[in-house]
Amino acid sequence: MAEMQTRAIGVSPYDLAAGTDFLLQLAKKNKLSLLSANLYTNTGKNPIFRPYLLTKAGNMTVAFIGLTGPLPGNRSPRQLRILSWQQVLPAVLKKINNKADLIILLSSASPRTNEEIAQKFKNIHIILQAGQGNGNHPPLNINNTLLCQAASRGKSLGILKIDWNPSKIWSDNDPDQLKNALNRLDRIRWQIGRMQKRHQPKELRNNLQYQRLIRGEAELEQKIKELKQQKNDTPGGFCRFQNTFIAMETSIPEDKTVKAIVDGTRREVNKINRKRQQELRKRREKQRQTTNPQQAGPFVNMAGSRICKKCHPVQAAFYLLTDHARAWKTLIDKDQQYNPDCISCHVTLPNYEQKPTGQEELLTNIPERLQGVGCESCHGPALKHSLDPENTVPGKPGESTCLQCHTKKRDKNFNFTRKMNKIRCPAG
Ligand code: HEC
Ligand code: HEC
Ligand code: HEC
Ligand code: HEC
Repeated sequence: MAEMQTRAIGVSPYDLAAGTDFLLQLAKKNKLSLLSANLYTNTGKNPIFRPYLLTKAGNMTVAFIGLTGPLPGNRSPRQLRILSWQQVLPAVLKKINNKADLIILLSSASPRTNEEIAQKFKNIHIILQAGQGNGNHPPLNINNTLLCQAASRGKSLGILKIDWNPSKIWSDNDPDQLKNALNRLDRIRWQIGRMQKRHQPKELRNNLQYQRLIRGEAELEQKIKELKQQKNDTPGGFCRFQNTFIAMETSIPEDKTVKAIVDGTRREVNKINRKRQQELRKRREKQRQTTNPQQAGPFVNMAGSRICKKCHPVQAAFYLLTDHARAWKTLIDKDQQYNPDCISCHVTLPNYEQKPTGQEELLTNIPERLQGVGCESCHGPALKHSLDPENTVPGKPGESTCLQCHTKKRDKNFNFTRKMNKIRCPAG
């Protein structure tokens, strides 16, 4: 964030994973403005972070306010209180209202909550929403508050260009609104005139279409009056905005400094995951000894690819040339072989219908022989077959087998026939 020269950051519930002390240290070290108006310790009277920041942009003063959303599943955070917006926003706004020309709320509350906030406070001019909604959304003008959101995890960059002036009113971005209304009025009057020429006044009194035109004329006249009035009230015109999203495609070159930070963080996280795995494994082994030492693990029906090679040298030689054979190495190269979010698709699982419950179980159990996407990822558990090939025959994969791992998210252009041709084992 410091590297990107971020002016203000709203503290989101995900930022709290390592505790607020850690976050405060990080902020201090990197001179970051972390903001949250509603995050309190259990006993404290003041918010843990600065509630808002006033900063200059040109000759204007811009206020940023931070609002921290609830933890996932509405869990209560340890030793912290997350107050509601109703409890904190009125007081904060009162303090900054006269000092700021433009007020921006950085919110990780739910989209629904943010809409309520927009409805309630006309003087919050922009809400930048993050954390709970999906995808890119063009700004929504709710009661003169622009509600904006770019896709999560840095998948897109949202750019909101604004032209802010003392009217402090967002135009609905239709500069021709008045002109269009006048044109419509012309058309309606012409239709009315034509009907008056063709029909007697008495007939028209009961003519539904005519009555509708008359009502439409009155409504338009009223609207035009209002638009003209607004134009007089705001000689500089209304404030305008222009929004674009830039997708962060992999073709965009990486920033070297940021990449180094991300890689370093990933390595650290991998180390933590490894330690955690070792502890879990020890704990489970102890448990097994005390309960049932014979208890079968979830991988008991799996042989591992090496065993198949003996009887299927042709297929094994082919398999080793496919990407599946190096799926585990791919994770090692990325320092992600202990990351529970990655492992499930880069290893040979016993049977997708009977995935071991919970990722942790999977993590701490995966034996070396099942690292990488092995033969049994496609042919199913085959230990029995490799011991007694005459009487048990392994299965063959269909499209649904592939789609367990080749999900939309991981493989945007999965084409079964085309991909099958790349990996189908030869006869032999
Ligand atoms: C001891 C030798 C042996 C081992 C080890 C062995 N197989 Fe086989 N496999 C065979 C024989 C023999 C056949 C042919 C059976 C038949 O056609 O009746 C066969 C057939 C197959 C078939 C084709 C089934 C079909 O319908 O045509 C697949 C797939 C297969 N094996 C996968 C594996 C996998 C995966 C492993 C390792 C987990 C493995 N085999 C280990 C001997 C073995
Ligand atoms: C257990 C998960 C898993 C299953 C099941 C699986 N794949 Fe894959 N597949 C992967 C992973 C992971 C990679 C990337 C490996 C790497 O490069 O590290 C991959 C890579 C590939 C590739 C090479 C890259 C590409 O997209 O061109 C092809 C082709 C492919 N898979 C086809 C298939 C087909 C067809 C099936 C079903 C018959 C299938 N896979 C089943 C996980 C799986
Ligand atoms: C839902 C299954 C799934 C999960 C979870 C998953 N992957 Fe993969 N991964 C795949 C598949 C399928 C491919 C092959 C896609 C293709 O090439 O089109 C792949 C390909 C890759 C590749 C590209 C290999 C290459 O060199 O071309 C990398 C790197 C990778 N995965 C890393 C990861 C990391 C890191 C994680 C965890 C953050 C992860 N994967 C989680 C299924 C998965
Ligand atoms: C990504 C999926 C995938 C992986 C991994 C895979 N196979 Fe296959 N295999 C297939 C497909 C697809 C076929 C063709 C099935 C068909 O003909 O319908 C096949 C066919 C076979 C056959 C039958 C060949 C014949 O005589 O027609 C054998 C034996 C076999 N595989 C063994 C293995 C072994 C051993 C491994 C690991 C070293 C392995 N497969 C890894 C997908 C896979």
